[in-house]
Amino acid sequence: MKKKLIAGNWKMNGSLAANEALVKALLAGLPAQPCEVALCVPALYLAQLQTLVAGSRIELGAQDISMHESGAYTGELSGAMFKEFGVRYAIVGHSERRQYHGETDQLVAAKAKTALASGVTPIVCVGETLAEREAGKTEEVVKRQLAAVIHENGHCISEIVVAYEPVWAIGTGKTASPEQAQQVHGVLRAQLKAASAQADRIHILYGGSMNAANAAQLLGQPDIDGGLVGGASLKAPDFLSIIAATT
Ligand code: 13P
Repeated sequence: MKKKLIAGNWKMNGSLAANEALVKALLAGLPAQPCEVALCVPALYLAQLQTLVAGSRIELGAQDISMHESGAYTGELSGAMFKEFGVRYAIVGHSERRQYHGETDQLVAAKAKTALASGVTPIVCVGETLAEREAGKTEEVVKRQLAAVIHENGHCISEIVVAYEPVWAIGTGKTASPEQAQQVHGVLRAQLKAASAQADRIHILYGGSMNAANAAQLLGQPDIDGGLVGGASLKAPDFLSIIAATT
């Protein structure tokens, strides 16, 4: 059975001093659970984090990646650059980037492809808004978002990580119930299985107000292979409790 993956998404938070204190507290308290742990931090701090987590089992992630390999793309950061700082993962298509930066399904798919080509594992985020859920469109939306990535990446699809993040649950304190989350994860797993014989090895993470109190139940669902944790990843005791909730 694959190990669970607990990834923190710090979003646009942190400072040199706060990062050092947080990572030191995480390293000191990391439980023995055999799960994988990753921190997706603001790109400016990757060099600092690379030193702080050296020799530990904490992996590093970026929060975005360019769809281009190099060249005249002001402000962009490439997979090759991330590799130089020991980065294993890059979040692509987070709902905040879809919403505030106009990222389309096609752009997200292209970013996933470039990440894979440079040896960085994309964590592909999908998820419906509250209006879409209330209109009964949850499945249609997440399947459309994932289909673009499957179409662009073909047989490499078994190399990605998927994160189901219902937009209405992000930063709101409202969590999808374990049953609601499992239902969507089951749909995503079936879609991945239709595309790849190796779909069982793909991690499908849940994200959206995951915390110390609800993690165990969410992580106990058959198709929930870990978490993408926002707010609770900024507090060492909370993030450590979520890691401890993986069995
Ligand atoms: P919260 O855990 O703060 O709801 O954020 C979830 C998220 O967006 C992780 O990518």
